[in-house]
Amino acid sequence: MREHGVLARLLLLYEHQLGSSSKGWEFSREAVAATANLLRRFVEDYHEKLEEQHVFTRFTQPGEMAELVKTLRQQHDAGRRVTDAILELASGDVPVNDANRAHIQDLIRQFARMYWPHQAREDTVLFPAFKEIVPKEEYEKLGDQFEKREHELFGEKGFEGIVEQVAELERLVGIYDLDQFTPRI
Ligand SMILES: [Fe+2]
Ligand SMILES: [Fe+2]
Repeated sequence: MREHGVLARLLLLYEHQLGSSSKGWEFSREAVAATANLLRRFVEDYHEKLEEQHVFTRFTQPGEMAELVKTLRQQHDAGRRVTDAILELASGDVPVNDANRAHIQDLIRQFARMYWPHQAREDTVLFPAFKEIVPKEEYEKLGDQFEKREHELFGEKGFEGIVEQVAELERLVGIYDLDQFTPRI
């Protein structure tokens, strides 16, 4: 699911705000707020809603999958609470001081700590199981439906437009150039 790729890039944008020894690194409240806004619009209000409506609902039989879905659902709710808190702290009305910055960074750590394993579990367990139980034609029809929703919510450019916004933020904080992450050994 390409949507998880956007989530991964947003997590990397968040994690960049945890600081690094690289020269010139600076905490950016604006970048935090912009990342949180994209997470809300694309991940929480779009991607997760589709999961909740169309995927989670297929696993109602008691058992391992129902347990997994229960945890995933709770994690969506917890993620939304964390995003609320980050949006509030990163808004212009709150002063940027050490305590607030540390609080935002702590929330980012908790958010990323949850979402890396969350999406990995969906990719390797939930979605393969979903694909197995949904007839092929229905699966394809759902794909078209999701794409239509993407355009309704995000305009003509749909998914590509969101990716452009992510790339723009990456450029702003200096993590767009992929080659910088290649180990020089
Ligand atoms: Fe999810
Ligand atoms: Fe997901």
